[in-house]
Amino acid sequence: MNEPTYRIASIPGDGIGVEVLPQGEIVLRAAAERYGFTLRFDRFEFASCDYYLAHGRMLPEDWKEQIGAHDALFFGAVGWPQTVPDHVSLWGSLVQFRREFDQYVSLRPVKLMPGVDAPLKTARDIDFVIVRENTEGEYSQVGGRMFSGTEREIVTQETVMTRVGVDRILRYAFELATRRGTPHVTSATKSNGISITMPYWDERAAAMAAEHPDVAFDKFHIDNLAAQFVLRPDHFDVVVASNLFGDILSDLGPALSGTIGIAPSANINPERRFPSLFEPVHGSAPDIAGKGIANPVGQIWAASMLLDHLGERDAAAAVLRAVEEVLADPAVRTPDLGGTATTETCGRAIADAVR
Ligand code: NAI
Ligand code: MG
Repeated sequence: MNEPTYRIASIPGDGIGVEVLPQGEIVLRAAAERYGFTLRFDRFEFASCDYYLAHGRMLPEDWKEQIGAHDALFFGAVGWPQTVPDHVSLWGSLVQFRREFDQYVSLRPVKLMPGVDAPLKTARDIDFVIVRENTEGEYSQVGGRMFSGTEREIVTQETVMTRVGVDRILRYAFELATRRGTPHVTSATKSNGISITMPYWDERAAAMAAEHPDVAFDKFHIDNLAAQFVLRPDHFDVVVASNLFGDILSDLGPALSGTIGIAPSANINPERRFPSLFEPVHGSAPDIAGKGIANPVGQIWAASMLLDHLGERDAAAAVLRAVEEVLADPAVRTPDLGGTATTETCGRAIADAVR
């Protein structure tokens, strides 16, 4: 039988993205060897500030043709504010990928890892996923400003919820809960205060819950939900939220479980009409770039999510196990976790553990 072959577009970007991405590739190669599939990496230098300085834009005109047929995008981090303003570098690259490839699910796992000092006393058995709607909701372009700079100044921005947009994110959350084997979905709402769109969100969530009788369902107002994240993080399995609420929870969740250096994120187009994107949560970290001490775990955990998306579930689980094993060993922790290991030492140890 022929081994399946996957084509991965590797896009390192800037700063520590260039340092951690190769470690993710090494671990992916180890997983491919061990689990019997082939990965072909194509490296792209666009979506970086160096590319911008040379070409006056973050992406080439034909970027969609160049990476649109790959099975996944493996991304480092973008941004070098000393040379290119952050809104230019981010909007010119990552935001384009997310929008143009209709990556409407933003996925962030929250899991307490060994060797990581969690900031909470309540942190025990934290292991859940945040599913954020990534294309509409509060982050709309409907609105405007009138009578600027006068006493009559008017500013509006409308929340846009579509049935298609709300249903597809809710469906993804319920199906993910079923797949994880922890069938429990929590919905973030605020229907007591936001009295038109949020009751609609609740209505669609209730309908989706009725279609999935095997999945336990509850909902919290966003203010209380933020408090519950802190008070009893072990209550949650899959948390689904609109764009704004999901954005906030996506930072709060991983903060509960430790350092930004290990948190991964995925931007997914579940229908696979376009490639999905896997990346660490952190940015390019100019303060430590070039020193070889960046923690590669966020990138490597993102690699595990990439494998899961490709359907290589065993390989994905093996990478996550290897991360847990290695984090438990103080000798291979990077400085952000109180160790002295380099990016490469840590990455190599995880690749070895996968093999
Ligand atoms: P950042 O995440 O790059 O850094 C924040 C702090 O965390 C820094 O002190 C950094 O040293 C530390 N840190 C981050 N990743 C680490 C790792 N893997 N190991 C050890 N320490 C780590 O966020 P910041 O400083 O706000 O932004 C820097 C640049 O990155 C900006 O240009 C920003 O626009 C960009 N950025 C890009 C993102 C992306 O590509 N998805 C996300 C966030 C920021
Ligand atoms: Mg955010």
